[in-house]
Amino acid sequence: MEVIEVQTRSRNYPVYIGQGILNNPALWSRLLENRRFLIVSNETVAPLYLDALTKALPGDTHEQIILPDGEQYKTLEQWQRVTDKLAAMKAGRDTCIIALGGGVIGDLAGFAAASWMRGIDIIQIPTTLLAQVDASVGGKTGINHSAGKNLLGAFHQPHTVIIDCDTLHTLPDREYRAGLAEVIKYGAIGDSHFFDWLEQQASSLNARMPESIMQAVIKSVNAKAAVVAADELEQGQRALLNFGHTFAHAIETATEYKQWLHGEAVAIGMVLAARLSTRLGLDSGDSEQRLSRLCAVLGLPGTDSELPTAADLINNMCLDKKNLGGEYRFILLKSIGQALIHTQVSDTDLYAVLRQ
Ligand code: NAD
Ligand code: GLY
Repeated sequence: MEVIEVQTRSRNYPVYIGQGILNNPALWSRLLENRRFLIVSNETVAPLYLDALTKALPGDTHEQIILPDGEQYKTLEQWQRVTDKLAAMKAGRDTCIIALGGGVIGDLAGFAAASWMRGIDIIQIPTTLLAQVDASVGGKTGINHSAGKNLLGAFHQPHTVIIDCDTLHTLPDREYRAGLAEVIKYGAIGDSHFFDWLEQQASSLNARMPESIMQAVIKSVNAKAAVVAADELEQGQRALLNFGHTFAHAIETATEYKQWLHGEAVAIGMVLAARLSTRLGLDSGDSEQRLSRLCAVLGLPGTDSELPTAADLINNMCLDKKNLGGEYRFILLKSIGQALIHTQVSDTDLYAVLRQ
């Protein structure tokens, strides 16, 4: 088992990464501390892993709430259900939430933990690749509002994160590949050796070889931990994690979140961002070609996919631009492994990149 220490101003915490560690007795003996637990999971994940998890918890120490599955349930209503359950349990500050599921469960349960009695502990047990390498680490929690995604939220670092890579065995292929897009992102923005390694390991990752997946998760969590340690509240460098995301959000919004999984949209967005970097003269290398090739080899969609029109996408990015004080804020590349924040982007540049 690998342990990565995340260090932030508000809290330091361990991320345990291993296989079959979901209910590891030695690990849990350190976490029980006479607490009571509320396990939050969903209708898909609970039948797969709840029994295994509860084996680690003495019978009278835990209760559970099982939510419906889906982004459309990352709502105030489901948050209310979780907090009603905490109220029914007469949960005090010693109560700890356990989030067992993907990023939707992690974000919603995290926000319940952030808001109950101004903050109680949460243990994140992420079960999708995307949640393991991104959502469970770093303390962003939240729910959606009718005016937009993740508009209600708080920074609330977890007490502990337990990443059991064995849970990925049941993850549908498309979800697995969408998680790989965020893994590629860490190589692209900050670690060219990791990017090289991903290129070399593509066939093992496609075959879901456990050793390769675990190495990819360890590298990714280390990368995220470093960024979060430097900029917990996203006042600067943490924004680099949004590489590919400006294009991705525009694609997701224009297709009403129906056509692409987030990681799929990020894959397309990263290639477009690399293309924009070249057009602006920031990157004179072959980043676009390498990103495009790696995404394709790992079964992710490319810029040859049927996308909304350039006008639609730019229209959506303009709405973001207004929220950002009137200028675009793109994360672009100098090369694979080196990202920067760039604001000097015109609509002409965007049309050129989207129509290429
Ligand atoms: P998700 O939570 O919807 O999970 C995807 C699907 O996989 C769901 O149907 C889920 O029930 C199922 N699933 C989960 N684990 C499984 C398993 N082991 N076996 C079989 N099925 C399983 O989606 P996601 O991609 O994990 O997360 C997306 C969410 O995460 C979004 O709401 C996004 O806003 C959020 N997010 C948050 C952060 C952050 O920093 N907090 C970062 C990235 C994304
Ligand atoms: N997922 C981006 C972040 O945690 O900042």
